[in-house]
Amino acid sequence: MPAIVLVGAQWGDEGKGKATDLLGDQVQFVVRYQGGNNAGHTVVIGDEKYALHQLPSGVLSRHCVPVIGNGVVIDLAALLEEIDEIEARGVRCDKLLVSANAHLIMPYHRALDKVSERFLGKAKIGTTGRGIGPTYGDKVARVGIRVQDLFDPGILQQKLELTLRDKNQLLTKVYNRRGIEAKRVAQEFTGYAERLRPYVADTGLVIGQALDAGANVLLEGAQGTLLDVDHGTYPFVTSSNPTAGGACVGAGIGPTRISKVIGIIKAYTTRVGSGPFPTELTDATGEWLRAAGGEFGVTTGRARRTGWFDAVIARYATRVNGITDLFVTKLDVLSSLDKIPVCVAYEVDGKRHDDIPMTQTEFHHARPVYDYLDGWAEDISGAKALEDLPAAAQAYVRTLEEISGARVSAIGVGPRRDQTIEVNPLL
Ligand code: IMP
Repeated sequence: MPAIVLVGAQWGDEGKGKATDLLGDQVQFVVRYQGGNNAGHTVVIGDEKYALHQLPSGVLSRHCVPVIGNGVVIDLAALLEEIDEIEARGVRCDKLLVSANAHLIMPYHRALDKVSERFLGKAKIGTTGRGIGPTYGDKVARVGIRVQDLFDPGILQQKLELTLRDKNQLLTKVYNRRGIEAKRVAQEFTGYAERLRPYVADTGLVIGQALDAGANVLLEGAQGTLLDVDHGTYPFVTSSNPTAGGACVGAGIGPTRISKVIGIIKAYTTRVGSGPFPTELTDATGEWLRAAGGEFGVTTGRARRTGWFDAVIARYATRVNGITDLFVTKLDVLSSLDKIPVCVAYEVDGKRHDDIPMTQTEFHHARPVYDYLDGWAEDISGAKALEDLPAAAQAYVRTLEEISGARVSAIGVGPRRDQTIEVNPLL
């Protein structure tokens, strides 16, 4: 079986952790391919709840190799802490592999993320403040620090001195902050080297060999399509490529190895941080949806913005990712509504758009055009098959499928692993 990509079809937080975890039993490798500890996956197994930030969800499956690919940016202190915490709960991380080419989030990246957001004022992006943007910026500017640099203290010190030369100018002269000493950072990071060493590998090679040997490899995206730096609502995006194309780059495999792209999509929509959101509900209904869905960030605890399902976005995600199957999550949250609005198109300055408008300005002006679908009152959290769902819930799913352009293969009806209806086999 070739590689499968699991991608968020909205603005992140679609419930990808649940899907990955569900597939974790059937795959031998789970690879994170972008993002860093801005992400947060909640996985519920039995009565245990795990909040994962940098560790791939595959870590919870004993026969699975969790891989942090080259496209990920790593906060080392946070990763080692996450490993300690999860091991203290009896989950072993000894199979974890970390790419030698992954870039490291350094203290100055975090500092710059925070000060630059503050300086943007009302135009701020609403980042997680974890240093993600500045780390990817340095990667592209070719002044980044990679995992492999930890094992060559001379090189590490040299690179740090070079990059801190202008970073410190920025920090002290533009942002009025204290400068950062290369020597101290080098010391801190060489201190992590020995703990990290057993995990470090040429992960692209390992994944390639695994695929050659017939292993199932799951490529797990963080964030979502609309947060993609190329295909999202720029500039209100993250600094990596969560879309399926990014999976190849961030894992180090070719596109011909991918056989399936599973889009994870919530039965409604949420977004964290700033930026346009056509179906957003800023009223009491939005608050109800937030409470009903428990829409608070796993990583930052921030309240998520909430809104109705947006088919324009779903169709877009299907197209840019080449989604073959949709996994609709949190359908149970919508139970008890009389009518459920679903956005089928936008109206922009009096003109109907079935697709996302070309420019940022038009997208900011987009008003949702709604269809109103019948709701259902029954508790659906125990449903095991599509037929167990009330007729209106089945119709809701079928409509989502039609307007999104990809078949619905799984439906989440509750947070637990077993609260999933598999309509078509995911593997
Ligand atoms: P950054 O990734 O911290 O630079 O933040 C950039 C944007 O992406 C902000 O709007 C964040 O709220 C958003 N973001 C980053 N990670 C996540 C995530 O895991 N879920 C939802 N939004 C995210």
